[in-house]
Amino acid sequence: MYKIFSVCFFIVNLYANCFSQNTGRTVFNFNDNWKFAQADLKGAQSTSFDDRTWRVLQLPHDWSIEGPFGANHLTTNQGGALPTGIGWYRKTFNLPPTAKDKKVYIEFDGIYRNSQVWINGHYLGKRPFGYNAFRYELTPFLLTKNNIIAVKVDNSEQPNTRWYSGSGIYRNVRLVVTGAVAIDYHGVFVSTPKVTENLAEVKVQTTLRNTTNQQSDLAIRQSIVDNTGKILVSKQESFSLLKDSLQNFTQNLTLQQPQLWTLDRPYLYQVKTEILQKNQVIDTQLSPLGIRTFKFDQATGFYLNGVPTKILGVCQHHDLGALGAAVNVRAMERQLEILKAMGCNGIRMSHNPPASELLDLCDRMGFIVMDEAFDMWKKKKSKKDYGQYFEEWHARDLEAMVKRDRNHPSIFVWSIGNEIREQFDSTGRTYAKELAGIVKKFDTTRPITSALTENEPDKNHIFQSGALDVLGFNYKHEAYSEFPKRFPNHSIIATETASALETRGQYDTPKAAVQLWPKDSKSPLVEGNADWTAPAYDFAAAYWGTTHEESWKAVKNAPHVAGLYVWTGFDYLGEPHPYGYPARSSYFGIIDLAGFPKDVYYMYQSEWTQKPVLHLLPHWNWKAGQTVEVWTYYNQADEVELFVNNKSQGIRKKGKDEFHVSWKVPFEEGVLKIISRKAGKEVLSKEVFTAGKAQKIRLIADRKAISADGLDLSFVTVEITDEKGNIVPDANHLVQFSVEGKGNLVGVDNGYQASLESFKAPYRSAYHGKCLAILQATKEVGKIKLKASAEGLESSEIEIVTK
Ligand code: GAL
Repeated sequence: MYKIFSVCFFIVNLYANCFSQNTGRTVFNFNDNWKFAQADLKGAQSTSFDDRTWRVLQLPHDWSIEGPFGANHLTTNQGGALPTGIGWYRKTFNLPPTAKDKKVYIEFDGIYRNSQVWINGHYLGKRPFGYNAFRYELTPFLLTKNNIIAVKVDNSEQPNTRWYSGSGIYRNVRLVVTGAVAIDYHGVFVSTPKVTENLAEVKVQTTLRNTTNQQSDLAIRQSIVDNTGKILVSKQESFSLLKDSLQNFTQNLTLQQPQLWTLDRPYLYQVKTEILQKNQVIDTQLSPLGIRTFKFDQATGFYLNGVPTKILGVCQHHDLGALGAAVNVRAMERQLEILKAMGCNGIRMSHNPPASELLDLCDRMGFIVMDEAFDMWKKKKSKKDYGQYFEEWHARDLEAMVKRDRNHPSIFVWSIGNEIREQFDSTGRTYAKELAGIVKKFDTTRPITSALTENEPDKNHIFQSGALDVLGFNYKHEAYSEFPKRFPNHSIIATETASALETRGQYDTPKAAVQLWPKDSKSPLVEGNADWTAPAYDFAAAYWGTTHEESWKAVKNAPHVAGLYVWTGFDYLGEPHPYGYPARSSYFGIIDLAGFPKDVYYMYQSEWTQKPVLHLLPHWNWKAGQTVEVWTYYNQADEVELFVNNKSQGIRKKGKDEFHVSWKVPFEEGVLKIISRKAGKEVLSKEVFTAGKAQKIRLIADRKAISADGLDLSFVTVEITDEKGNIVPDANHLVQFSVEGKGNLVGVDNGYQASLESFKAPYRSAYHGKCLAILQATKEVGKIKLKASAEGLESSEIEIVTK
């Protein structure tokens, strides 16, 4: 009895679970009720395989993030020091009767990596690359009931990446049912060949697939829909589609008085593509449409809609900190919100195609995106990386990226690779031309770049190929002024800057000169800290980089450099340069892994936004008489004055090309205060108090009401404070969490790069007074109650509403 029940329970009936109907195409969310085993099993693709003991879970899923950390994991700490290996996923499902005689496809947005897929025991194919979307047709192999899809994920060959990849079906999965005549996969391409103040010409190219042996007489209707859903322009044309064919059709529409897509107001239209047969809609697709013009000028930089616009961007890897690689829209949106508030207007998707949902967010929030295909071509960077598959797969993988992403208005540049080793030999010319050719075949509306390191034109074969429209350079800020001479016909963008090293809250005494950790590739690291931390003051960097201030100064003063993508916005898992294990996440972020800004965040904010900024560092808990260097980042003011217990420590003004001012003051318990003034009038003031004994826990949710959709998140910041509410700067209490109600604790973090506590544990040590708890709503409406307690502290509670 029990057995029968348990089997039936996990067969998914796809009757109600769809999100688009009556359009000729049905799309089912296919993320629920997968079974998973983290093991190298023989025969798990077979329909008769017994998976009853497997774990049931919901995709997207990343098994690596579940841990534990370990010095012996094959990824090494460069890949995050987390487990990888082989995993299997299986799902049993029944299709609705309406799917009969239709075409059925499964669409995977990304599986890391080396995936192989079977339906009812039939092999569908493999994908070595871990970052692309792909689909398989299931139709010929489907049964009326109990279909079994099996996916083997093999991330056992290690190391295969220079950062944390995650393992598993870490992006969304859909089941798509269409007619035998339908729009092809990623088969609509929208572009705007002409945009003026008064009109936009919108070109829509549609690829249709006829899988029948009869010619079809059809009509195609293209409509432009505004952001309220109103159809503004519509055009219908009749045509015949040959039997058994894949054919392209183009329509041109004109939109009067278009609203432009700008960074402050990224207005989005949609193009609705409908295919009609005998007046019935047999397929539909919605594509985003953002109307904008842009150009790169080799002398004066980037222009958006005719307005000179410096690209103020950051590079981002794909992990979401404690949530790992598993895609979650709210977690990505939170990252972008924190970046936007800093004044950031661009994201470089380093060094692989991102989740489509991240591009959707960039479209909606206004970011200048560089979409990047590869971190290596044939010449590998890690022993088992994609280099071994490049020859066989690069054309398909690059095509897949461009076709998937080309409708996103936020994308302005395609990058065909990062620090590619072939730039140093003549194969770089051949590959660069070929790759650029593939991009141009599917999109000619955007320039092509590659993030280069070799800046001697004669020595750089990728440059020599002539395939790049815009040259990207990583670091080498000392050479920016040379570039117009060396590359007279090319626009330049700083694809990476800084690679500075910081740990939030770690106030090591600043040094006047930039400290390179280690000094160069040959030197041992003698400068680092014993507890694997880096200074929170901006003075240390990897030897190929420099501080944030130095690199920003170089870009700011180079009008011919179109902008920068700072390495990186957020700390990411893996690449904990300069340390070995237990360090396991990077130090390069402007924001730590938990999402807490480091101090340098306010340097960028003071330069990149128009809002008044005044930020003071460090904390004010030192030994009596100790000399402390106090820094402030500010803007919108012509001077700042510092006070210790109301005694002025002097007025400071930033000179040209200075981004902070500082004082050396003897510590005295009490209050440190800073005032910024413009023309003698106070603009802002800030106070930092000496914190007393740790006594309380403060819980601050980024959002107190979230959606009861099984996905949405509330990020709760946990602060350890004294009685008066001052954060205790060295507090490292072990905080225990318990959750009741309509939610779960899905991740914890504190931003410390060498913490080996599990991201999935119901506890976390505070680090420099703070940690983070991530709550996820269930699908039920109600309340989530989070309780946090720690020895010696008053416990605390917070309630989140799920709606
Ligand atoms: C760059 C590289 C990045 C990252 C960075 C760290 O050279 O392109 O992927 O490794 O260095 O500083």
